[in-house]
Amino acid sequence: MQKTITGFSKLSKIEKIDWLVHTYFTDSNSAKTLLKQYWNTDSKLQQLHDEFIENTISNYYLPLGVAPNFLINDTVYTIPMAIEESSVVAAASKAAKFWLDRGGFKAEVISTEKIGQVHFTFEGHPEDLKKLFENVIKTTLIIDSKDLTKNMEKRGGGILDIQLRDKTFLLDHYFQLHATFETVDAMGANFINTCLEQFATTLKREASIHLDGQLNVIMSILSNYVPNCLVRAEVSCKVEELGENGSASPMEFAEKFVQAIRIAEVEPYRAVTHNKGIMNGIDAVVLATGNDFRAVEAGIHAFASKDGRYSSLTHAKIENDMFTFWMEIPLALGTVGGLTKLHPMVKFALELLGEPSAKELMKIVAVAGLAQNFGAVKSLTTTGIQEGHMKMHLMNILNQFEATSEEKTTLVKHFKTHTVTHSSVMKALESHRK
Ligand code: MEV
Repeated sequence: MQKTITGFSKLSKIEKIDWLVHTYFTDSNSAKTLLKQYWNTDSKLQQLHDEFIENTISNYYLPLGVAPNFLINDTVYTIPMAIEESSVVAAASKAAKFWLDRGGFKAEVISTEKIGQVHFTFEGHPEDLKKLFENVIKTTLIIDSKDLTKNMEKRGGGILDIQLRDKTFLLDHYFQLHATFETVDAMGANFINTCLEQFATTLKREASIHLDGQLNVIMSILSNYVPNCLVRAEVSCKVEELGENGSASPMEFAEKFVQAIRIAEVEPYRAVTHNKGIMNGIDAVVLATGNDFRAVEAGIHAFASKDGRYSSLTHAKIENDMFTFWMEIPLALGTVGGLTKLHPMVKFALELLGEPSAKELMKIVAVAGLAQNFGAVKSLTTTGIQEGHMKMHLMNILNQFEATSEEKTTLVKHFKTHTVTHSSVMKALESHRK
């Protein structure tokens, strides 16, 4: 069967599905039934989702969970999390409760600057370009973008600065317009990219009028690296308050915890997994609130390498008997525009969070990341990670074998004292069913 096709995008949804299931699936009927099973019965709602992207054939579910009891500054939040991995929401909830009893989380937005660049080559005299930029182009760029920036300025944002950057030491003839923006409650991707494309038009026009050398615009695009769009989240308490019933001494716990963070600071193999755990919390909230988790991921990992070596995003210390655990990360988020007013579940998530501004959402997301890391490192340095994971894993396996509620209760009890593996659960279930 021919596996390539022309004009696929022009086919109707059902025609696309028919082609797909007949081309790639042995049981085309089952494949088609499955896809249709995931359509929403409300056809208008389904159409809304179909139109988010191209070539839509069905929906792909992720569970939406919530982690309650997050005290951030003076407000208590129940945080929505969209994620497929078991234990993440449980760990977040546990960390929230732990810190609720110890003063909660503190969070502050340090800066909110976004960045965009026009990349171009210029083959004339750099000095001519620099002079023209200072005397003419810089102001003309702003004037030509007035119509585009009007609304954003009304909301308190706009273009903050535009610099000409000579990058010829990196690549022959390579220059940039490096622009900074304030986009208030919008993530700002469309605003920034539209402004940049206007900058490129203006730049080309002015160069053709005033400059001798060839100027060639290569591309205009925002940067997802936003080291000046920073938020800080922190928890702290007296070391003695870290104790829990039945746990090791609070000082022992605190010292081991700090040591685990230091390892992640100096050892990239550990840092990547450590930060992955932080992203479990961050991505889940970013996704639930309709933000671009790929942009957030790219920016945060670049930030984790800013000193030349990939390192931990979180830090911890014990000073004067106080335990402090904190993180500073770049986060470009929006609570208006994009999916925020379109996706009903995103609207739900934002209402659950009390319709936060972008700055408030930055704090909530950062706290979710810090809490997740606290939960992971606490487990790793005490009981080990598998205990909690295996409880959830057990449920997943039981669901896979369609265990009844009675079977689940019996087997959960059984596995309190036995090791969970796929085959041990299967065997236990089989013998229980005999
Ligand atoms: C698993 O998704 C995340 C952890 O590996 C994070 C960590 O090791 O810190 C538990």
